[in-house]
Amino acid sequence: MELPVIDLSPYLEISTSKLGEEQELDPQLKNLCSEVSRILRDTGALLVKDPRCSAEDNDRFLNMMEKYFDKPDDFKRLQERSHLHYQVGVTPEGVEVPRSLVDKELQQKLSTMPKEYQPSTPVGPDPKWRYMWRVGPRPSETRFQELNSEPVIPEGFPEWKETMDSWGYKMIYAIEVVAEMAAIGFGLQKDAFTSLMKQGPHLLAPTGSDLQRYGQEGTVFAGYHYDLNFLTIHGRSRFPGLNIWLRNGQKMEVKVPVGCLLIQTGKQLEWLTGGECQAGMHEVVVTNRTIDAIELARQQNRSLWRVSSTLFAHIASDATIEPLGHFADPPLAGNYPSMRAGEFVELELAVINLKGKNSNSSD
Ligand SMILES: [Fe+2]
Repeated sequence: MELPVIDLSPYLEISTSKLGEEQELDPQLKNLCSEVSRILRDTGALLVKDPRCSAEDNDRFLNMMEKYFDKPDDFKRLQERSHLHYQVGVTPEGVEVPRSLVDKELQQKLSTMPKEYQPSTPVGPDPKWRYMWRVGPRPSETRFQELNSEPVIPEGFPEWKETMDSWGYKMIYAIEVVAEMAAIGFGLQKDAFTSLMKQGPHLLAPTGSDLQRYGQEGTVFAGYHYDLNFLTIHGRSRFPGLNIWLRNGQKMEVKVPVGCLLIQTGKQLEWLTGGECQAGMHEVVVTNRTIDAIELARQQNRSLWRVSSTLFAHIASDATIEPLGHFADPPLAGNYPSMRAGEFVELELAVINLKGKNSNSSD
């Protein structure tokens, strides 16, 4: 089974036209929205094609990040902000802890899964670097100041800010369209999700995994986990290795076609839909397909850093998360108590954290 690709163009054409607001949505577009929400619910993932975001944009971003991750560790550590819980700048390898390593309840659940669907077992913290870059406006007043810190720019990268912001905004625009389509598909107001995303602490958080050092089959770069944010979006990585778990428990290797984006459901979306759409479980592991890609990159003299061009879209820290609209009906809604999104994030971080608060623990 492969994930279908949803082309956002038809929806974009309508939503950007002036007539869009008042118009009753065309039945075909309505179907497309239902398809988006259905795929998100059943698979926790969605492949999209956004005409505003090209393969060249993705390449420009990946090229810069490969160049950065290839710098010596001492250089990269200048961008480390451990006192800010790594919420900006670089997180060195060996800091992020996969949830499956510390969450006893999760470990218990994993042991009952059929063998062929069980995730790889990490032996310690993730061996990957990550860079955190905030995208979009931040609130002037917030109760959650530490989640909204100033950006860090490495020396010798004059193109840094422009490249990060341009990729970041493109990713957010794509997420906003998907969030609107999903809201319609779930029978909510079109802006049910996007209105809560305004001024959210969105994070562009590419990871860098050194396949030269850690290129052995079975190496776990990101242990089995879910993302704590609303929706996560990635461009295509040059090295495969992402596995996802469908709602029915089946494990699936994700193949992202060239020019496409991958979206994954996070815990905040699960909260807002009262569990109708659950946070997608996933892992990143060196597979035989990764090995083939490493071999090809070696032959072509390309970088052996596996960069993921990940953006975590969040609900605004001060906004309330609770099941929306018809999802507020009991009994399931009881599992998702109302709270501020920022408070929720802090609770989640406390679980996955062995060395003080760190990042999203994701790919
Ligand atoms: Fe993740």
